[in-house]
Amino acid sequence: MEVLLKTENLETFIGQYHILQGVTFEAIRGEVTVLLGRNGAGKTTTLRTILGLSPPSRGKVFFKQKEIQELPTYKTANLGIGYVPEDQGIFPYLTVEEHFKIATKGKGDKVNERIETTLALFPDLKQFWRKQAGVLSGGQKQMLAIARAYINYNELLMIDEPSKGLAPIVVEKVMETLERMKGETTIILVEQNYLMAEYLGDRFYIIDDGKTVLSGEMKELKEHEEWRKKYLGIS
Ligand SMILES: Nc1ncnc2c1ncn2[C@@H]1O[C@H](COP(=O)(O)OP(=O)(O)OP(=O)(O)O)[C@@H](O)[C@H]1O
Ligand SMILES: [Mg+2]
Repeated sequence: MEVLLKTENLETFIGQYHILQGVTFEAIRGEVTVLLGRNGAGKTTTLRTILGLSPPSRGKVFFKQKEIQELPTYKTANLGIGYVPEDQGIFPYLTVEEHFKIATKGKGDKVNERIETTLALFPDLKQFWRKQAGVLSGGQKQMLAIARAYINYNELLMIDEPSKGLAPIVVEKVMETLERMKGETTIILVEQNYLMAEYLGDRFYIIDDGKTVLSGEMKELKEHEEWRKKYLGIS
């Protein structure tokens, strides 16, 4: 088992607020690591801190054993860390094709091959290739956001609440797609949809009040209803 990314006691301030107060976790290559926790627990801030969008005041981030917490965001991204933000970051007036072109700009000569592979995984997007992203449904926008991060063969994808705002049947589709990416790509998944987390996750970390408070294999969380009640408010 290779630890691809690791954080050690991350502490992050946003303005005067001490938002992260000790986030420590590991993502193992080929696995799906799920970050769970209530609204406002600090899950999104954790991903943003790793990316340098909200840099930590203390603590470390290691990617392939190298410290990266001081790097500017573009350098972190260039190491092979893709990010699908909670709000998806889609440009409504650009076409699906243009989103793909921007994502692959300057990435060498195998771009067409990569676009083909990606479209095979996201067949709906092919149909909307020349359409503006603004006309896509919520699920299709989410697929576009994930495809855009996937297309560069990032070694690590960090995906923030892909099920948010989607109907259950569409959530299932997103789940199937992520399942097909599993193994090939290492994934850090922030997810409040517990069923999705349980289905895809290998390992979990619970963040509560800006701290990692509990972790283990996903199957352990499945067996401990009292943990889910205590930290996630679900049974
Ligand atoms: N720009 C900001 N200014 C002030 N407070 C912020 C800012 N961004 C986040 N916070 C606060 O930081 C805390 C953690 O926010 P974060 O977005 O990381 O939570 P989360 O676990 O992702 O929650 P959710 O499940 O609702 O997405 C919250 O209390 C939030 O109000
Ligand atoms: Mg969030």
